[in-house]
Amino acid sequence: MKLTILGGGGFRVPLVYGALLGDHAEGRVTAVTLYDVDGDRLDAVARVLAEQAAGQPDAPRVSVTRDLDEAVRGADFVFSAIRVGGLEGRAADERIALAEGVLGQETVGAGGIAYGLRTVPVATAIARRIAKLAPDAWVINFTNPAGLVTEAMSRILGDRVIGICDSPVGLGLRVAKVLGADPATAWTDYVGLNHLGWLRALRVDGRDRLPELLADSEALGSFEEGRLFGPDWLRSLGAIPNEYLHYYYFNRETVRAYREAKQTRGAFLRAQQSGFYEEMKRPGTPALATWRRTLAEREATYMAANREAAGAGERDAKDAEDAEPGGYEQVALALMRAVARDERTTLILNVRNQGTLSVLDADAVVEVPCFVDANGAHPVAVDPLPHHATGLVTAVKAVEREVLAAAGSGSRSHAVTAFALHPLVDSVSVARRLVDGYRAEHAGLAYLRLP
Ligand code: G6P
Ligand code: MN
Repeated sequence: MKLTILGGGGFRVPLVYGALLGDHAEGRVTAVTLYDVDGDRLDAVARVLAEQAAGQPDAPRVSVTRDLDEAVRGADFVFSAIRVGGLEGRAADERIALAEGVLGQETVGAGGIAYGLRTVPVATAIARRIAKLAPDAWVINFTNPAGLVTEAMSRILGDRVIGICDSPVGLGLRVAKVLGADPATAWTDYVGLNHLGWLRALRVDGRDRLPELLADSEALGSFEEGRLFGPDWLRSLGAIPNEYLHYYYFNRETVRAYREAKQTRGAFLRAQQSGFYEEMKRPGTPALATWRRTLAEREATYMAANREAAGAGERDAKDAEDAEPGGYEQVALALMRAVARDERTTLILNVRNQGTLSVLDADAVVEVPCFVDANGAHPVAVDPLPHHATGLVTAVKAVEREVLAAAGSGSRSHAVTAFALHPLVDSVSVARRLVDGYRAEHAGLAYLRLP
């Protein structure tokens, strides 16, 4: 089984490889091809993987290439984890949005739109190459904004592309843990779009245990989302939102925290990651140890500005080495095993709606529980969204559709509409200035030429 990783020089690739190393069963991945546009980054990551594989005779073979066609040909699975414009681009997305007083997070608000506008054309071109060279491959999309990018790719690859995110799975596991429930048998009722979903129930033996958790302030204070949103707001909603909804429900506070922070997330990661790749160029650098140290720092500072704004304290320690079942790489591995070996399971994934959420059309990519088997991911019927969630989900889907229209046509007016319709952008004038600002900054947006 051959797995190709697009964005193979990316920092989180060793997480995926580490998960593969733990899989010894028949039908496992035996060859990994890393594709990237940057040779130095490929070399750095290949060194980390080589140290990870040391002493393991059945470790998947690793090859690297900067040729997309070569990478894709013959692949059974393709992981797409690219970052168009790099972390430099991410930092610029934040800076330009903040200068207008709006949020520039890479997946939410103005930043997510800017990032989507430059990523969709690239992801679409990649999807076309895959459709041509490896039409039977399954494509697992990690590239953010993951829901939007999966929808763009699904227009070419249909249901052969499946988007993943670890945050809903992580939320389900955290809630199960505080309730002392077994996550293997509990049913997590989680629905929405990527980074815009709600856990509405956790059913154990047919009974919803969420009301019990919502009634218990101490238990709510013991995990990440409980601390971010606070017990009162969670009780008002009657659900636990995805952590990214903090940017919506506490927008002023998060924008302020981002403005007051020494650095935005993108700027922090740009400095941290370029330090890592520089260090890796030195021959004596212990690759795996250096990577682990950098990862621990990245994990510890995740959503730090939000926690600061919420007074939520430090992040719970996450043991990077001993990958959690809800971690990014474990979700990807579980999905791959279910599809490749028919190890049937349910996972929360980004797939085409097909009638699951009645307020959206069949082709809209949504994030919902799916039954997964050798035929792919099948969304499971869910209860309708409450009105407040319908409002946000349909508004943001309309924004995504404008981004797709802009990327497909090169029309600036669709791009302006995308920004203007977003619930976290409060003026059409701001939307116009954002398009001009982003266009001036990113060469990848030069295609927005038409009126
Ligand atoms: C979470 C999100 C991902 C995101 C990751 C890293 O897992 O679900 O979409 O890529 O965090 O975030 P960071 O801010 O460290 O790049
Ligand atoms: Mn995510």
